[in-house]
Amino acid sequence: MRKLAPLLLVLAALGACASNSSGTKSAPAAAKVSVTANGRMIFLTGKDSQGFRINAQHPPLRASCAACHGANGAGGVHLPGGAVSADLRQKALAAVKPAYTLQSLERAISTGVDNQGKSLNPVMPRWKMTPRDLHDVAEFVRTLK
Ligand code: HEC
Repeated sequence: MRKLAPLLLVLAALGACASNSSGTKSAPAAAKVSVTANGRMIFLTGKDSQGFRINAQHPPLRASCAACHGANGAGGVHLPGGAVSADLRQKALAAVKPAYTLQSLERAISTGVDNQGKSLNPVMPRWKMTPRDLHDVAEFVRTLK
């Protein structure tokens, strides 16, 4: 018990912190970070934050978004069949008419239908992921500068 006393003090202090931080301010901020963190992980590694590998309708030529679009999303990578990966940075996605929205981005990523309703080059995989992963990776794309 003599050894446990300091530990109990620490636990009590942690408990106090936890109850302080359960106030309204920190909760939404934490939720936001995890959306972006999950989206970033999918983009860079092809696996979500729980370790699930994203799939596609046909086996993708490369396993992550970054492997074709670059870690910063700048695109311009030449792929087999003459395909060139698109620039996914905010400037590029806002410059097309109509500008990409979260919804049209999710549609492009999951069905290969672009902002104008046209089919993207089949080298761009038609991704199959959970609605949450699809949302998070699309949100992450919208943060690319
Ligand atoms: C195997 C290579 C490859 C991978 C992996 C890949 N892409 Fe693509 N992507 C492309 C190519 C090539 C294009 C351009 C297609 C075209 O010009 O028709 C493209 C286009 C896009 C577009 C449409 C952009 C526009 O301007 O219309 C979006 C959005 C996109 N990719 C997002 C993603 C995301 C998000 C991931 C990961 C989940 C991903 N891509 C993974 C190759 C890839």
